Order: sequence, then structure tokens, then C-alpha cells
Amino acid sequence: MTLDEIIQSRRDTRHFTTDEVPDEVIQKALQAGHHAPSVGLTEATRYYLIKSPEIKKEIKKLFSDYDQKASNLTDDELQKAQYKALKLEAIEEAPLGLVICYDRSVLNNFTIGTVGSNEAIKFSAVSAAQNIWLSLTEQGYSMGWVSILNYYQFKELLGLPENIEPLGYFCVGKPATNYDNQPMLQQLNWKQKAEKPFIEEILVSAPISVPESLRGVTRNEAKESDTNDSKASEALQQKIDNKTKPTGSLGVLETLAKQIGTVFQTLEPKITKPHIAVFAADHGIANHSVSAYPQDVTRQMVTNFLEGGAAINVFCKQNDITLTIVDAGVNYDFPANVNLVSAKIGKGTQSFLHTSAMSPAEFDLCFLKGQEVVNSIFETGCNCIGFGEMGIGNTSTASVLMSILLDLPIEDCVGQGTGVVDEKLIQKQNILKRAIENYNGSNDLQCKLAYFGGFEILQMAGGMLQAKDNNMLILVDGFICTVAFLIAYKMNPEVKENAIFCHSSAEQGHQKILDYLDVCALLQLDLRLGEGTGCAVAFPIIQSAVLFLNEMASFESAGVNNRS
Ligand SMILES: Cc1cc2nc3c(=O)[nH]c(=O)nc-3n(C[C@H](O)[C@H](O)[C@H](O)COP(=O)(O)O)c2cc1C
Repeated sequence: MTLDEIIQSRRDTRHFTTDEVPDEVIQKALQAGHHAPSVGLTEATRYYLIKSPEIKKEIKKLFSDYDQKASNLTDDELQKAQYKALKLEAIEEAPLGLVICYDRSVLNNFTIGTVGSNEAIKFSAVSAAQNIWLSLTEQGYSMGWVSILNYYQFKELLGLPENIEPLGYFCVGKPATNYDNQPMLQQLNWKQKAEKPFIEEILVSAPISVPESLRGVTRNEAKESDTNDSKASEALQQKIDNKTKPTGSLGVLETLAKQIGTVFQTLEPKITKPHIAVFAADHGIANHSVSAYPQDVTRQMVTNFLEGGAAINVFCKQNDITLTIVDAGVNYDFPANVNLVSAKIGKGTQSFLHTSAMSPAEFDLCFLKGQEVVNSIFETGCNCIGFGEMGIGNTSTASVLMSILLDLPIEDCVGQGTGVVDEKLIQKQNILKRAIENYNGSNDLQCKLAYFGGFEILQMAGGMLQAKDNNMLILVDGFICTVAFLIAYKMNPEVKENAIFCHSSAEQGHQKILDYLDVCALLQLDLRLGEGTGCAVAFPIIQSAVLFLNEMASFESAGVNNRS
């Protein structure tokens, strides 16, 4: 067979004979995989063989679970019926199972070619998969790629170490059909393969828009006058004291009502179109085992937000808050038709253990994108915005930023995040300490923020500054969100006037930042979830503050005697 014949006859196979795969066949194929290119010559691809029927049975269960999920995602009933009729695996029948993986721990050291995206490690494993496929075809065998699996459970089932990521499950054997020499999906009329590939020559290049540096911009635009503030606040205090209640008896609600009235410069403030924006992004530092979850969970959770299944969805629905999910830099390509605001700066930051998390241009872009997101929400008529975040590894990023911003030892800033305890917590602390010690850049605060920053954290900081400029109420969630606030506060301390700190997190660093800012959080519920959940849960309390100010009777209106 010529190479071209091999390439053309290679098929994704789901129908196998019962013939065993001889050892020399699979060895030759895996050697072909080993000949494939790998980024920076990382050789991070790993192969695991599965022959046990029991293990195959368990893998088949994982497939069936996701097959059902996929079937529910089909566009209409006709498509669902067609989908269900397809055979999309041969896990139990194929004599040999192959799991092709990549070891992302190679990213612990500098790796040529991964600066654009650490997915280059995954792409290398895919190149190997193709070589294996072609070699099997040449030898009269074939392979079928099964990707319809929950990868996290799949990994758990196989007992793979945290740093080993599977591409999928591959069924290997002798093909029982060649599907009339065409893809099976074409043979069954699911889809016709285009005859020719898409090819286009790009003739002109477009200029890359690098925003003017936003850094160092003074945001302390003079307000109308401070005297207006103090007059409004005096009048508000009087209104609050005249309500039919003992002075001060509504406690924090009174403080809140006064703050909200002062922000909006009115005795009758109204919250309109409340909104929570959840900023999601990935962090290079997550490659160093600082979280209890793998990085992929960031994109899984974004999908969960979009499907309405996360805690923040539930609480927003409960309290009539509009929810926006922002892709600030998740290491994943989301489909274009999902209800996600794309503000992607990159596919995750670089690991600040070795290099700067982001470039100065990316740092500036974060602020710009954060501002744009908030402005588009403001334009819907919203005057109260809550900030939430999602990003595996972001408690590490936030802890380092806190340590730098408040000049505290890292030990005082690191917490368990998603649930890192005991030796893993010590390990997390040590890695972060090492990262800070490795830093030999400029002493300039903004250089340090770019070096150790996270796309979602800096976008939130930019968004909060914009919310202040728009005179919106700013609801601040937990630890990570408060670190973002701290960055905004360092750039414009007046942002504090508009901020409501919704809860005090179980993450140890949080209370310390609240103390530094000299603010009290509304709730103490031991939350440590993020996603803006604290904002959503605290929202009814904020509404109560506004409502009593607007609707409660005064001593005069109710004819009730005030204290003599
Ligand atoms: C990344 C990847 C994942 C795939 N996952 C599955 C799968 O879960 N089940 C399946 O039946 N086919 C799967 N396929 C096979 C494709 O559907 C198949 O390659 C395509 O229909 C073209 O057919 P051919 O490979 O025979 O040319 C996968 C292919 C790729 C490249």
C-alpha cells in the first residue's frame, strides 16, 4: 500500500472481527506513535493497554451515560432517533483497548512551543494517535476513537495520576467492514464529507489592536462635590431615624440603606435590573497540583453555568438576578452559539512559577475587556452589579496577589481553595513561595500584577472601576473577587464608596483583606464556592435595606409618637 492508499483507506472503526491483535502489530503501531512529532520534543504521550472485560464493561457504562447525555442534546426528535441508531463505540467487542494520554507535568519545566497554549502537549498526543491509526491500517487492523465519555470519571476509573490526561478510549482490532470505503457517518447519511478541504490564501494582514495603556490612569475624577455627599447622607440619616422604629434598630440594614442612598444621591433609591457577571479563566499555575481539581473543570463548570445547573444559576433565579457568564480566558474553544460573552485574552495564563502569567498588552486588555463587559450590562439599565469568578487554580493566583498587594507572607494568604489539605496544602504554599522568590522583575506594582495575575481577576478589577465610573452598586463576592477589588481599590480608593461586601469567606485570607479595607461583610456563612454565590445570596438583604427606606412609615406619616 502506498502512503496515499493508507491515508485514504483509514477508517474510524466500530465493527470488529473477534481476531486478537498480535503483540507485534500493536507494538509496531505504538512505535509509529512514538515517531510522531511532539512539541519541544517533550515525548509526553503515554499509552495504556486494556484487555480486561471487566474494565471494558465499566468504560462502556461511562460511554452509555454520556451517550444518553448527547442524545438529549440533539436538535430535534428526528435527529435524536438517527443519533440513537448509530453505533459509536465497540468498547466490549474490540479485542484491545488503548488509552492514549499526555503527561502535562512536563509543563512543570520550561517547554519550547507551549507559550501560546499548553494545548500543544495535547496536540502532540493527537499526532501520535494519527500515526498509530495509519500504522494499524497498513497492517490490516484499525481503530475507533471513543470520546463520548466523562473524562474526569474515565481518568478516575483507570486510576490515572492527576497529571496524566487521556485523549479518549481507542478500540483496536481487525475491521469487520470498510463502510463501503467511506466514513461510517457518511455511509449512514448522517453527513456527507466535503470532497475538498477548505483552503484560502490570506492576502492582507489586519492591524492588531493593542489598547492604549490604561495603567497609571488616574480615576479619581473629581466628583460633583463632597458637600453634596455629606448633605445627602445627613438627609438620609434623618429619614432613617424618622422611621417607626427605635434609632439604629435595623442595624446593618440602616448602614446599607444610607450607603445606597448616598451612592445614588437620592432619598428614594431603587435597584434596577440587578445583574451578576461571572468571569471564568484558566491559570498556568494549575499545572502544578495546587488545586483538588484538574484544569478542565473550569470549562466543565462554564458549561454547567450555561446549562443552568450551577449554584449561581439557582440563586440568581431565586432572586430575579440576570446572570452573564464571561469567558475571560478559559483554556478551551467554546462553540460559537452558546450564550457566553467572549472576552478571551488567551487560553489560560502561563504558569508564574517560571515566567510572567501575561504580557503587558494582555494586562491592559484585561482592564479594557472588563470595562466593556460592565458597560454593556450598564446599558441594559442595570445599576447594581455583582462580580463572581470561576477558574481552577485561582485561589493560588489570588493568594500571591494578596501577598504582594498587602506585603504579607504567603502563608498568611494561602487557604485550601477547592479543598487542598494537609501535605497538599503545604505543597501549594511551597510552590507559591518559590514562585514569589523566583520573581526578579521590576518592583513596579503593575508589572507584578501582570506577572502573577489571572485574566478573570484583572477583568473583574477593570469591571469594578468601570462600575464605579458608571455609579453602579458593586457587589463583591468572596476571596478571589475581593482580591480583584483590592486591585481596583489600589487604583481608585473611591471604588469603596459603591462596594457592598456580601460575605466573609471560609478562605483564611479573605477576612484579612476585609480588615485591611476596614469593611464588614454582610454574611458569614462559611461559603467558599465563588461563582458570585455570596452576591446572589446577600441580594435580598440589600433589597430589604432599600425597601425599608422607601416603604416603611415615618413617625409623622403613621401618627406614631417619637421618643420625647
Ligand atoms: C477527536 C475525535 C473523537 C472522536 N470520537 C468518536 C466517538 O466517540 N465515537 C465514534 O463513533 N467516532 C468518533 N470519532 C470518529 C469520527 O466520527 C470519524 O473520524 C469521522 O466520522 C470520519 O470517519 P473516518 O475516520 O472513518 O474517516 C472521533 C474522531 C475524532 C478525531
